[in-house]
Amino acid sequence: MQKLAGKVAVVTGAGSGIGAGTARACAAAGMKVVIADLRLPEAERVRDELVAAGADAIAVATDVAELDSVVALADRVEESFGAVHLVCNNAGVWLGALMQEADIKDWRWLINVNLYGVIHGIEVFLPRLLSRGEGHIVNTASLGGFLASPPRGLYCTTKFAVVGLSEALLLELAGTGVGVSLLCPGLVDTHIMESEQVRPEALRTGRAPAAAEEDEEAGMDPDEVGRRVVDAVREDEFYIITHDEHREYMKLRFDGILAAMDRHAERYRS
Ligand SMILES: NC(=O)c1ccc[n+]([C@@H]2O[C@H](COP(=O)([O-])OP(=O)(O)OC[C@H]3O[C@@H](n4cnc5c(N)ncnc54)[C@H](O)[C@@H]3O)[C@@H](O)[C@H]2O)c1
Repeated sequence: MQKLAGKVAVVTGAGSGIGAGTARACAAAGMKVVIADLRLPEAERVRDELVAAGADAIAVATDVAELDSVVALADRVEESFGAVHLVCNNAGVWLGALMQEADIKDWRWLINVNLYGVIHGIEVFLPRLLSRGEGHIVNTASLGGFLASPPRGLYCTTKFAVVGLSEALLLELAGTGVGVSLLCPGLVDTHIMESEQVRPEALRTGRAPAAAEEDEEAGMDPDEVGRRVVDAVREDEFYIITHDEHREYMKLRFDGILAAMDRHAERYRS
């Protein structure tokens, strides 16, 4: 989608981090921006900042884990701005837990937000984009959607799924006028380590466990990630792999799979 000025972008999880960076980049490109987040005050803070800078923006309380909430988001967007052009299914949460220690509530929380959040975005917005034959979807996965290691098992499960979903969606939508991008960042400076604060149980009881320890390594600026997302939308680029430093691990993964194929073929050669 080359011309973005005047078009409408919806970004989920835009009250913080990468979503906020993407919302800023969309506003800088002249788009009308919908800041959707579970935490309305955070979304309103980003909206106020964008409006103060001269953009058209609204904040909408949205729980991407709930289909009805995403339907309500789409209705609200159309009332305010008309047709949607860009949908960034970005909201996500982190949990560092070994699978041998995690319980089913941990799994459900991560799957509901990180995977169903994306599925709901597609269920609700894709028919609207297809009906006009124009638009773009950006799904946020992670480098953890290609590289799995403990204690990231639950998180990586959801992100591998988002990678598979997006790769299939790209092929399915070829020739429809609706583009797809897959955002796979490495470490970005955001509040994702505080995700436990937005767990359904924590929101219900008002009690959240302490934030997970921050990675000492400095991450990328989320505004830089946002700018790269907008560039990828303009250029209809599928993979947005913002970090270069994990190249060796990617190569090891795919080389390891190919080597296993070779061994298997050799063992069962008739
Ligand atoms: N920060 C990183 O290093 C990193 C790396 C790779 C991928 N990601 C992915 O980037 C995306 C954005 O994360 P971030 O790092 O900006 O984190 P963040 O915590 O700063 O922002 C995430 C936002 O999502 C919102 N959110 C949480 N649950 C929600 C729900 N059910 N419905 C709607 N909004 C909800 C939060 O309120 C928060 O504002 C996530 O999908 C994350 O997995 C982050």
